[in-house]
Amino acid sequence: MRLSFVFCVACYCEVNASAGGDSGNVALLAKRGLGLNAASARRGFEVYWQVCSRCHSLELFKLGDLKHLGYSKAQILYLANGGHISKRLELPYSSKAQAKAFNNGIVPPDLSLVVKRKNAEHIKNVLFGYASVYANTTARNYYYNYSFDSGVTLMPPTLVDGVVKYASKARANLVQYVLDVSEFLTWVSEPWTNFRGWLMLPAISIFSLICGLIYSTLRRFDLELV
Ligand code: HEC
Repeated sequence: MRLSFVFCVACYCEVNASAGGDSGNVALLAKRGLGLNAASARRGFEVYWQVCSRCHSLELFKLGDLKHLGYSKAQILYLANGGHISKRLELPYSSKAQAKAFNNGIVPPDLSLVVKRKNAEHIKNVLFGYASVYANTTARNYYYNYSFDSGVTLMPPTLVDGVVKYASKARANLVQYVLDVSEFLTWVSEPWTNFRGWLMLPAISIFSLICGLIYSTLRRFDLELV
């Protein structure tokens, strides 16, 4: 009993201490695995930025949202390249016609809500789903990919080991990229998942209060639990 009381107080202090600012929140989420893993989502943005954004738009996402992943204002402005902090990630072509011309006759779909429309598994299936032996063997630059109903896709397999340079020391391989980019796109689809850590605060506070009450009641009546 005493031990659990000490544990409650320790949790409470730790959560309160880490919740001091955005970076504290990020560290807390990453460490405890509450909601999304923020470190992974942050790396996922690097994957998105360096590879996916060459073809896809992410219209519901503003660069300024990166502050929730621990980016400073200066870093965001640097990425915005002279643009405003609320710059959105639009289709990287001057027109839909140009997007089609560069992508085998199809406009790459916006990825803001792809996880909501389908799910995070879908992203993983698409990116892991290439049958490399047959890649790019058919006439219209179709690529074999089991995750599409037709068995083929017009999206080339651009995500390969080493193509993304992480700022951190995380492994730069396909598996890591896919886990991270799907974490990032899940967060873009459901930004509030980031705040699950905050919901824990009242929960833990109430829990530790109850622990304290039980403990003091037991003390008052001189009762031992075991
Ligand atoms: C060279 C351009 C290009 C790049 C780079 C690219 N994609 Fe695509 N992507 C496409 C095209 C074109 C399609 C449509 C494919 C089709 O319908 O056959 C597509 C489709 C998709 C789909 C399926 C969407 C749906 O509605 O089911 C997902 C998911 C996806 N891409 C994710 C990504 C991710 C994540 C990255 C970065 C790791 C990425 N793509 C990089 C061109 C690209």
